[in-house]
Amino acid sequence: MDTALHSPEQAIERARASTMLSPRFYTTDFAALDQLDVSPLRAEWDAMLAEYEGDNNHDHFQRTPQFAEEVAALTPTWSPELRAEFLDFLVSSLTSEFSGCVLYNEIFKRSHNPDIKALMRYMARDESRHAGFINQSLKDYGLGVDLGALKRTKRYTFFKPKYIFYATYLSEKIGYARYITIYRQLERHPELRFHPIFRWFERWCNDEFRHGESFALLLRAHPHLLRGGNLLWVRFFLLAVYATMYVRDHARPALKQAMGLDPTEYDLTVFRITTEISKQVFPISLDVERPAFLRGLNRLVALQARMDEAKARGGLRGKLQQAACAVQATVTFARLYLQPVQRHALPAQVRVAPAW
Ligand SMILES: [Fe+2]
Ligand SMILES: [Fe+2]
Repeated sequence: MDTALHSPEQAIERARASTMLSPRFYTTDFAALDQLDVSPLRAEWDAMLAEYEGDNNHDHFQRTPQFAEEVAALTPTWSPELRAEFLDFLVSSLTSEFSGCVLYNEIFKRSHNPDIKALMRYMARDESRHAGFINQSLKDYGLGVDLGALKRTKRYTFFKPKYIFYATYLSEKIGYARYITIYRQLERHPELRFHPIFRWFERWCNDEFRHGESFALLLRAHPHLLRGGNLLWVRFFLLAVYATMYVRDHARPALKQAMGLDPTEYDLTVFRITTEISKQVFPISLDVERPAFLRGLNRLVALQARMDEAKARGGLRGKLQQAACAVQATVTFARLYLQPVQRHALPAQVRVAPAW
């Protein structure tokens, strides 16, 4: 099956796709966000807003003259697999970045809470730069995505505000961990940097880190979101975010290989960083070192591959096989969910530094 992208129509179709693994767009109960109160953490909150105001990345997302030269020199060296996986990576990264932009901008427009409004304006500003920067690289390959059309036509998932906080906190922090791990690897091995965009990742992921810090403060200012029955949701989102990333990364082996990274090792590094950071806000974490944890994730990868084969086969038999895989994947996910978690006390000071 040819999964490579050849036209802007295919690129926007890929960005619009609603599958278990594709990045989503979110909507929420905007009025409920007006009730948020950050005053218990006022000093930390104001210090963070001052950082956004200072805007240390205002000049970062601009292409240098060498950018195009590097693209022209490096692209012909790629294998067809790498080309397909890298362009797919750009489209899914663009979709995630733009998803944040759309959500934060919508909250900014609808909110009457001055603290939330100020934060959302800054975060939408950052995500819009990130999405625009990726889209420029897609345009080099004739695959620019019409973001206005994507915003109008992609399906939106409704999440209650607390689910938005858990999911967004994690996706910002895991985004930081992913980008910094790639950046550090290519810093050690510049000969493996097959596209110039990776040189932008260090300062870029500091934006994502700060976005995560903002949700950490919001969550810690509302401690009921971090105890009792809500911890079952925290656990669910931790596993959903980790498992989705693991399955998606293992479907793109050439991309990691080109960077000299083993997908399993890369994902474990990202899990470890994210787990360490998330202790600022979640009193539980998944035990990613358990062999049974990795076994469960590998089973999800195998089931996804069988599901894709069944889908490509089509017909009634294909449909039945897909359904059987879906049932097995649900059981595997439930088993992973029931594995023991680690518990820890929350630190008095919420904020941590991006030290990886
Ligand atoms: Fe971003
Ligand atoms: Fe972000």
